[in-house]
Amino acid sequence: MTLIASDKTETQRNAAPAAGQHPANATLPAHSPGANALNAGTGTVLPPAPSATPAPPASGSKPASAETPKPAPSKPEASGAARTQAAPPPAFYTKDLSVFYGEKQAIKQVSMAFPDRQVVALIGPSGCGKSTFLRSLNRMNDLIPGASIEGEIWIGGHNICDSKTDVVRLRQKIGMVWQRPNPFHKSIYENVAFGPRYHGVKSKAALDELVEECLRKTALWDEVKDRLHQSGLALSGGQQQRLCIARSIAVKPDILLMDEPASALDPVSTAKVEELIAELKRDYTIVIVTHNMHQAARVSDKTAFFFLGDLVEYDETNKIFTNPSRKSTDDYISGRFG
Ligand SMILES: Nc1ncnc2c1ncn2[C@@H]1O[C@H](COP(=O)(O)OP(=O)(O)OP(=O)(O)O)[C@@H](O)[C@H]1O
Ligand SMILES: [Mg+2]
Repeated sequence: MTLIASDKTETQRNAAPAAGQHPANATLPAHSPGANALNAGTGTVLPPAPSATPAPPASGSKPASAETPKPAPSKPEASGAARTQAAPPPAFYTKDLSVFYGEKQAIKQVSMAFPDRQVVALIGPSGCGKSTFLRSLNRMNDLIPGASIEGEIWIGGHNICDSKTDVVRLRQKIGMVWQRPNPFHKSIYENVAFGPRYHGVKSKAALDELVEECLRKTALWDEVKDRLHQSGLALSGGQQQRLCIARSIAVKPDILLMDEPASALDPVSTAKVEELIAELKRDYTIVIVTHNMHQAARVSDKTAFFFLGDLVEYDETNKIFTNPSRKSTDDYISGRFG
């Protein structure tokens, strides 16, 4: 099975979201047999793109036109192209991706590759397009009236910007965690079991096992195992966010998109979510938007700095935070603007 539209009708695919449920999550689950067929037999999160697929971009990006390069470092870096050649195939990548709201261009021809099972942080001042870019990666922007996309997003040999893409399937493979925890108005157990059950897991034993597995992976099991049938809304904000992450991984995604997942949390809960991200990257490729520079430095392997819809600089996190190539990156991470 591929991400190209299945023979299910749109009505079947979008059936029965629960009341109050976010539309993203209404379309997430698919735990039926073959749900992971995209990866079947490869043993990898996503197979390398076929030879006909365009090569992923170098890990850098075109600089913003008005950008002032910093003086060259004394020890030259390997070129982006050289680094990419040596690297394993990315989990996915964008090529000249632009996003518009009506006439206004919010993302400007961004090309970037996301390494398999690594964490990429998106940083930049408010309004620079981080959330827009993130939402476009699983076509959530389709749900915004007037929003449109140009360019390509390649995942497993498919350009998911293609109109034939099965977006329901896509959003199952690429889960989303939002800034504010948004558990369903259901029990803790049902929050996690909802997606798998919706897509055909009927056995109580299988659901019990899956719920426990996901709650353990999100370090929540010990805190909630004695009250699984209480409302998810009765949990603390930090616990709710971990419950939402458990709900996301219950449908076996390959990629997790997180838009400021800890910005509404206290420092202790934030630390737990950060620990969780470090654990989850064993199994998932993660893209996280954050305004917290320390958080980006702590949790991510690579960091991308956005400004006014341009990808200004994208590199190893350590490089971005110790020796960025662009002056505006330096100014931003040093708190001189934004
Ligand atoms: N639904 C929308 N309709 C029209 N314009 C939008 C919409 N959402 C975002 N924009 C505009 O697109 C640009 C990028 O917004 P976006 O929310 O992606 O920025 P951001 O970097 O995530 O900001 P923040 O850090 O404040 O969350 C902004 O100019 C914003 O006003
Ligand atoms: Mg945002």
